[in-house]
Amino acid sequence: MNTPVEGFSKLSKAEKIDWIAKHYTKDAEASKQILEQYWNADAKVQKLHDEFIENTISNYYLPFAVAPNFLINDTLYAIPMAIEESSVVAAASKAAKFWLNKGGFKTQILGTEKVGQVHFIYKGNTQTLQTFFEELEPKLRKSVSDITENMEKRGGGIKKIELRDLNEQMEGYYQLHCTFETLDAMGANFINSCLEQFAKTLKEKAQSYAAFSEDEKNLEVVMSILSNYVPNCLVKAEVSCPVAQLDKNPVAAEEFANKFVQAITIAKMEPYRAVTHNKGIMNGVDAVVLATGNDFRAVEAGVHAYAAKDGRYTSLTHAAIEDDTFTFWIEIPLALGTVGGLTSLHPLVKLALEILQNPSAKELMEIVAVAGLAQNFAAIRSLVTTGIQKGHMKMHLLNMLNQMGASESEKQQLVQYFKDHIVTHASVKEALEKIQSQ
Ligand code: MEV
Repeated sequence: MNTPVEGFSKLSKAEKIDWIAKHYTKDAEASKQILEQYWNADAKVQKLHDEFIENTISNYYLPFAVAPNFLINDTLYAIPMAIEESSVVAAASKAAKFWLNKGGFKTQILGTEKVGQVHFIYKGNTQTLQTFFEELEPKLRKSVSDITENMEKRGGGIKKIELRDLNEQMEGYYQLHCTFETLDAMGANFINSCLEQFAKTLKEKAQSYAAFSEDEKNLEVVMSILSNYVPNCLVKAEVSCPVAQLDKNPVAAEEFANKFVQAITIAKMEPYRAVTHNKGIMNGVDAVVLATGNDFRAVEAGVHAYAAKDGRYTSLTHAAIEDDTFTFWIEIPLALGTVGGLTSLHPLVKLALEILQNPSAKELMEIVAVAGLAQNFAAIRSLVTTGIQKGHMKMHLLNMLNQMGASESEKQQLVQYFKDHIVTHASVKEALEKIQSQ
């Protein structure tokens, strides 16, 4: 039975490793070796990683790949992706190539508004609070002028501060519901700093507001925090082409287009399918969000809330056939940044942004939406034609061979062999054993 540890964060890295290996692993020496194997050879890079979070004992790698040939608004991109799932990058690249000679992807920013709220309790007269708020609003803005000065110089800042009455949900519950424009920054720190100052000013000014009773003066701030629900920080990405271009065989092209639209319709109607459908979209979205040092948890939370905004969880993508033209598009909320956070700190993130030609936050929103759309196109295309296992298992083949301890030459032979054989765990094992016994 292990006992709790005191002051763990103050131990040195070596002491932390010793402690964890000794108390929670079977072979302390072997565990230490694994942890050290993943340290960066460059001490400066390692120190950077050590300082990103508390109690760092090693680094956790994900493959960092690029999917080339993405034509987006007539510019060619190679998109960096950080992801462990074997078929995702291959699928993205395939979709990019498919649309390359059909006009590529077109995108449009539909909004860039971020949201933050001060949640507070006021058990008094609503009209008095409303009058107080009208006087308070300019004071709130003034109280954060040193935080907003730089952002305002660049054209951003606080857009709107509203008083929202949520008494019906909970007695005495009100909000300062605020919207922000944070330009190329994701803006979490900027927004949270403004909100915490708003909360202080709100409390302070309430204390000295003559029309308030003693109770009303003591309104209570519960919390101040940005919202990851960003339905007005929205981007659209689209592909379209004549149905006949979808396949060399005209009958197959029409059948494919119809089945594709049916698959999207099913994902729109049926939550079990919608969740998996959107998961496939997020394979592309998260991989680029991670590679560019953005907060994928924030993006995930916001995207799924958006998918359920009308009361039922539904597809993020849409498809239609009109006048023999096939159109496929996505509308997705993405609060992203290309400055601040990890973007200038993490060497690979910096490189990923350079590969993307140092995009603005708006351009990154467009690229990420395209990655999601491409991923969905590839998944639906496989699902309504060959099924996904064919491509999936091919990509998984190397993982299986590595797990089975195949040598480089065995891997090469078997990759060749499975080009026209069905990949299953049993068939791979059998084929490997056959080679090994020869
Ligand atoms: C697997 O990671 C993603 C898919 O299941 C997505 C989908 O079903 O649309 C293939």
